[in-house]
Amino acid sequence: MDDIVLSGIRSTGKLHLGNYLGALKNFVAMQHEHRCYFFIADYHSLTTHPNPADLHSSVRQVLAEYLAAGLDPDRCTLYVQSDVPETVELYLLLNMNAYKGELERCTSFKDKVRQNPDNVNAGLLTYPTLMAADILIHRATKIPVGKDQEQHLEMTRTFANRFNRIYGVDYFTEPKAFAFTQKLVKIPGLDGSGKMGKSEGNAIYLTDTPEAIRKKVMKALTDSGPTQPNQPKPEYIQNLFTIMEAVSPPDTVKHFDDLYNSCQIRYGNMKKQLAEDIVALTAPMRERIDAIMADTDYLHRVAAQGAEKARASAAKTIAEVREIIGFRPM
Ligand code: TYM
Repeated sequence: MDDIVLSGIRSTGKLHLGNYLGALKNFVAMQHEHRCYFFIADYHSLTTHPNPADLHSSVRQVLAEYLAAGLDPDRCTLYVQSDVPETVELYLLLNMNAYKGELERCTSFKDKVRQNPDNVNAGLLTYPTLMAADILIHRATKIPVGKDQEQHLEMTRTFANRFNRIYGVDYFTEPKAFAFTQKLVKIPGLDGSGKMGKSEGNAIYLTDTPEAIRKKVMKALTDSGPTQPNQPKPEYIQNLFTIMEAVSPPDTVKHFDDLYNSCQIRYGNMKKQLAEDIVALTAPMRERIDAIMADTDYLHRVAAQGAEKARASAAKTIAEVREIIGFRPM
């Protein structure tokens, strides 16, 4: 069987460059090659309790950003997670064989507990089972994601294999993390350490104006430059190079790398170039996002068409899973 590709992004507001380079860019490339399902993970966003108006506007925003980036709803199945309630049934069924200990050991769970000790809810603990349900409901095998999602995919494989073993079937195939062009990426933030993320406050958004992008990039942490040729780069400098590798042509990266290695680099020039390359990448998307957001009829049509296609595939899986588990007509 041909590979089935699936991935999603949480609807917690607008998308940043890490979401685009780690995930969305690959979605766009993959829609031409495989049967693809891309969705907006709005159930997942409930762990942080958004109010109804924010929940709705975030889903609209991410849908518009998917379309502006180049996802074609006639080529791939583009849907909103909560339009496919079959996912929730599979989530419940998988939860019966997902254990507290393994869920508690999940790195992203431990991070969230540390960040928000007053909101350790069951949805957060079982986040990986909902993610597994998203994937297994379409029996997807190739999952384009950034590096931070590797552990969640490992858990999906565990749940899929466990289901097969418990029921003595060979029903679910192991899904694998996938990057279309190169290896899985982790785009760092502009604050010197860690990954780019919305809650980290270190992100460049696809909707940022060119002026805002220039300002953010120029503020990135640097120093007075290397004093020895071929010196290893400190993390905050390596981060600028990592972002540049993802957005600029290879000869631009090489140019600044050579200047670094010969101690001639001027970080102001490098940051100016980096900002312009980010602007060149995001500006056309930003214009399309604004236009698509204004077209409610179009967004409605896309979501309705996606829901219908996704539910057809999900209903088939859930009927088969029910039969395997033993939910049968009297
Ligand atoms: P989320 O919403 O945190 O991120 C969406 C995608 O963006 C990638 N990403 C990054 N990649 C590289 N560098 C970064 N700094 C960076 N920040 C984010 C993430 O790796 C991800 O691919 N649990 C998922 C959403 C989800 C999902 C799924 C994904 C729900 N169900 C099923 C795949 C399959 C999440 O929270 O991603």
